[in-house]
This record gives sequence, structure tokens and C-alpha cells, in this order.
Amino acid sequence: MSTIETSDRFSTILKRLSDKSVADYYNPFVHFSWPESLPDEAYWMTPSLVSTHGTEVGAQLDERQLMELSKWESVNFYSMNVHGIRELLMEVVDRIHMPGFEVPSEFFHHFIGEENEHMWFFAEFCLRYGGKIYPTLKLKTSAPEDPDVGNLLVFSRILLFEEVVDHYNMTMAEDSRLHETIREVNRIHHKDESRHIAFGRELVSLLFDRVRDRLSAEQRTEIEVYLKRYVTTTLESFCNPTVYRDAGLGDIPRLRERVLADPRRHEAEQHAVRKPMSFFVRSGIFSDSSLRPADTRA
Ligand SMILES: [Fe+2]
Ligand SMILES: [Fe+2]
Repeated sequence: MSTIETSDRFSTILKRLSDKSVADYYNPFVHFSWPESLPDEAYWMTPSLVSTHGTEVGAQLDERQLMELSKWESVNFYSMNVHGIRELLMEVVDRIHMPGFEVPSEFFHHFIGEENEHMWFFAEFCLRYGGKIYPTLKLKTSAPEDPDVGNLLVFSRILLFEEVVDHYNMTMAEDSRLHETIREVNRIHHKDESRHIAFGRELVSLLFDRVRDRLSAEQRTEIEVYLKRYVTTTLESFCNPTVYRDAGLGDIPRLRERVLADPRRHEAEQHAVRKPMSFFVRSGIFSDSSLRPADTRA
């Protein structure tokens, strides 16, 4: 592809974000204090973020069960990060120093370095306190014929993923009920991600501008459906049957199905993505901010 039509605005923002990346640099391998263990009788994830929160099934769980669930759901959340980062790194590594990405390549170096470090501390948390990294389901995708549309989809997915994660990070960083190590992992990730998200929004806007006029109505709908499906799949990964079993809730009939169908879960999901959805509507990529038409699941 040809060089992205950049503007002074984009170059100025990239310079500011790269400088900030240098100024805020920390060594993750010495930054965190990892206690031998984290307390069992405590929340590891903010209660309102736990997948059953507000649902009919959640109302049947006592506090001890919710704490146990919050523990395994936090390990699941960090596992999702490990896999999400691994996948986004492959896409960015594939593009750095390739024609068309000359302008953001300097920032990509910061991005790749930081994401490698995030992947390390999320994996460290999972292995130390959960003894494992949960596996991930891979969403099958085929690259569109138009490489510009392909780039738009890739960087939109990265942005959407980072924004969903950021909702969880910000909530947990501010939650004084959580252990300081948990809060710090979320706090430090949020700090780095605020730069990545600012960059991602600029890049996605530019990538959309270059294809906007040649997209048919049908192609626009396909892009919107595809990206919303990506967000829905990501959000549904928070309701993980293996996690429910690890938390001792394996005997509750149709637990995942009931949580996924609960209108309160849909509200929580919609709340988690309110910021990126309004960005995608504002930039003209989405026609509305609803994750599901008429709020029904296929
Ligand atoms: Fe990250
Ligand atoms: Fe990031």
C-alpha cells in the first residue's frame, strides 16, 4: 500500500506519544512486587466486573463463591491479554518497516517493546497465582482482498481489544478492595495503554479516511458486522466454562448459557464498550453503538 496520507496532526501526535513512552519507561522485570501468594478470602477482580454480576445466576452465589469466581476470572482476564497481545504483536511486527508504514514505524518500536513487557507480566501473574494460562479460541478470519480494508480491520481490532481491556484495568486500578499487586498490574497497564489507544484512534481514523469513498453500502455493513462480532466474541470470553469449573461452579446447570442470555450481562457488556463504540460511530465506521441489533443473540 502507499504511504498513509498523514497530516501534521498525526506526526505531532506520534512524536508526543513516542516522547512520552521514553519519559514513562520503567523496567517491568523489577517494577512489581510479587508476593508468595495472594489472599484467598478476597476479591481479585472488582465485583461489578465479574461475569455473573447482576444476573439471575449471580444472585444465587454467596460471597465466598463470588470471591473464588473473581480469582479465576482475573486469571482468565490476564490470559486473554496474553493471547490478545501475542496476536496483535504478530500483526504489528508484520507491518513495521513495510511500505506504507514509514510514519508510524518509530512508534511501532515503542508499541512492540511495551506489549512484549505486558505479555510478560500478565503471564507471570497467571502462572504464579493461577498455575496456568487459559487457552484461547481463535476467531477464524480471512483477509479481505483490498489490503487497505485489511489494515483498517486489523488496527480496528487492536484498538477495540485495547479499549475493552482498558475498561477492566481502570476499574481495578481504582478499586481499594483489591490487593496492591493486582491494582498495580492494572494501573501500569492502563498508563501504557492510554498512549496505545490515543495512537490507535488516530491511525484507525486515517485508515478509514482512505477507503471511505470507495466502500459500497454492503461493504460498510460487512465491516461493522465483522468488528462488532469481534467485540462480542471478546466479551463472551469473559464467561468461560473452564473458569466456572475451576471456581467450583461446575454443577450449576447451563451456567454460561444463562449468564450470556441475561439482559443484565448485556447491559454490563454495553457499558464496558461505551467509549470505543462512540468513537466508531463518531468516525463513521459504525452506524450505531449497539453491539447486537435489537439486543438479541444469534
Ligand atoms: Fe498492553
Ligand atoms: Fe497496547
